[in-house]
Amino acid sequence: MTVKKFYFIISILLVSVLLVNCSNETEQAAEPGLLLGFSQIGTESAWRIGNTRDIEEAAENKGINLMLENANQKQENQIAAIRRFIAYQVDVIAFSPIVEDGWDNVLEEAKSAGIPVILVDRDISTEKEGLTSCLIGADFYKEGFMAGEYLVRKADSLGLEHVNIVEITGTTNSTPMRQRQAGFMDAIAGDERMTVMESIDGDFLKSRGAENMRYLLETYGEDIDVVYSHNDEMTLGALPEIENAGFVPGKDIIIISIDGGQEAIDVLKKGKINCVVECTPKLGKILMETAVKLKAGESVQAVIHPEEQIFSDEMDTSKISPRGY
Ligand code: AHR
Repeated sequence: MTVKKFYFIISILLVSVLLVNCSNETEQAAEPGLLLGFSQIGTESAWRIGNTRDIEEAAENKGINLMLENANQKQENQIAAIRRFIAYQVDVIAFSPIVEDGWDNVLEEAKSAGIPVILVDRDISTEKEGLTSCLIGADFYKEGFMAGEYLVRKADSLGLEHVNIVEITGTTNSTPMRQRQAGFMDAIAGDERMTVMESIDGDFLKSRGAENMRYLLETYGEDIDVVYSHNDEMTLGALPEIENAGFVPGKDIIIISIDGGQEAIDVLKKGKINCVVECTPKLGKILMETAVKLKAGESVQAVIHPEEQIFSDEMDTSKISPRGY
């Protein structure tokens, strides 16, 4: 090799290394100055754990500094976390409110500090204007409505004359609990076959799903035709109780769940769950994009709902691709 050729190859290599470094930097540090404080509810479900992971990954991909606090299912911990974010003077605050009420004071404090607030996953209830910038989360009413519509179709296909339903709800006064219930009730309203025998709070927890199912089986026994459960975790807790009581879930009792995590989809494929309405936890990318806009003083869409679908025994379940949570 001539000296000239040697230097030519070295310079090509150097330029390539520089280009690779530059492109990595653009990916890693797209928003180097942005500090986002995020208060997560806890770790009550595979959904929640998947949601946290998605937000962490999205922050890393966008080069956003994330201050993440886990509230361990307590509203007072979320309020304390938001106060810490204000004290740190973060650029943007995001949080998933465990329940809808009780946020006015701390959000007034964020507003006075000039820090925009994004609601992630769940909504709040307030009389005051302008405490938050937007909501990024599922259309829970639509999820409940899709669950109810499925039940009407299922009752038609089985030729059922009476349908006795027990409902295991999510945390009382949380947005998914209120709206999944309202959507479901609206979808079955006017169908005289349908009776909701009892609605009971399972707090989105597997243990409470099991405990409530034991109680419901003791109280209503073989009169139960349908279990409508507001999330996969509670459904997965309820199923062994149904089997222990001598019933076959998916056949003797119609099982309807919400979330669409991998474990529930695997059980759907085995026929022990009849229907799972998707609720996607993958909100991280849109959260980061929205935080960037807010920091830049740009306006954002007031409500952003992701697209969601329904998985059920009406379809070829072997075609459902891996869920990732
Ligand atoms: O707010 C979304 C709900 O919260 C999910 O359905 C549930 O699994 C989670 O705990």
